[in-house]
Amino acid sequence: MKKRVFSGVQPSGDLHIGNYLGAIKRWVALQEEYDNIFCVVDLHAITTPQDPKILKQKIREVAALYLASGIDPQKSKVFVQSHVLAHTELAWILNCFLPVGWMMRMTQFKEKSAKQRQQVSTGLLDYPALMAADILLYQTDLVPVGEDQKQHVELTRDVAQRFNSLYGETFKLPAALIAKEGARIMGLDDPTKKMSKSETATGHAIYLLDSPDEIKTKIAHATTDSGQEIKFDLQKPGIYNLLEIYQLFTGVDRHEIESAFAGKGYGELKSAVAEAIIEGLRPLQQKYTELMADPAYLESLLAQGADQVRPLAEKTVQEVKNKIGLG
Ligand code: AMP
Ligand code: TRP
Repeated sequence: MKKRVFSGVQPSGDLHIGNYLGAIKRWVALQEEYDNIFCVVDLHAITTPQDPKILKQKIREVAALYLASGIDPQKSKVFVQSHVLAHTELAWILNCFLPVGWMMRMTQFKEKSAKQRQQVSTGLLDYPALMAADILLYQTDLVPVGEDQKQHVELTRDVAQRFNSLYGETFKLPAALIAKEGARIMGLDDPTKKMSKSETATGHAIYLLDSPDEIKTKIAHATTDSGQEIKFDLQKPGIYNLLEIYQLFTGVDRHEIESAFAGKGYGELKSAVAEAIIEGLRPLQQKYTELMADPAYLESLLAQGADQVRPLAEKTVQEVKNKIGLG
């Protein structure tokens, strides 16, 4: 039996190369080895304000980007979270086993609520309960995500363990699968901050659908450091980030990269990085355009994905309800 993988991305904005290198590209690489479920987590997106028309569009866009990146619906199940009601049902139940104190300690909640100040929704605080439900519904073994989601996966384990100890073995305990490289791509404008969908400064992120000219301009303006050495040196976060992006798009190893750029200037490095990204994204962008030209096909794939996972999710919810005496 193959191990089960579950992961998702929020359709809350444009996907960037951090989402790609930290998450989606790795899902594609793991696809053969595992039994995979990939979700467009639209219910998570509404924890912050969304425009209804744009949200609906973004949900399809994210699904198309999964497929365009190489997720194969023959090998992986792809669906939209709100199409499977069991997610909200289990999230509610898990709520009742999650101390508020655990939720208040989540770094992502603290950061997002500090940014929003007024109007922080209860959903934003509760976000990790829904994520735990996503993962636990499918008896997931592994959760491939970027570094920022590690704490949420740990909370998922904690609530699963708590439930299991109260009611007997019910949930499998999942583990986060975080890459050594690419798990935290930094902003181009400020390499001390993680590249993020919600950051609006132009030049902060490279989006998966950016044109070659946009990519060249953004990389040309990326913040670098004083000095001229081109090395994987964490003391030089701007250069480090560009080198890591280059490494992940080209597959060349770190020593080779350093020797190839020895004695060269930052300008040359930047041109090479821009080219690597443009070439890396080209096939993805082509496939994306084809997929978006046939909305009925995409819609049918998503309906099929939801139909495939629904029975698995409902089985878990039924077991949980029986154990706690509901119904
Ligand atoms: P989100 O944008 O929060 O929906 O994240 C979707 C996936 O991309 C999650 O697995 C994140 O951990 C991952 N991710 C988001 N931002 C980055 C980043 N800057 N570097 C690497 N992975 C990231
Ligand atoms: N919280 C994740 C993020 O923002 C998205 C997500 C929701 C997720 N549910 C999940 C990731 C379940 C992995 C597994 O990146």
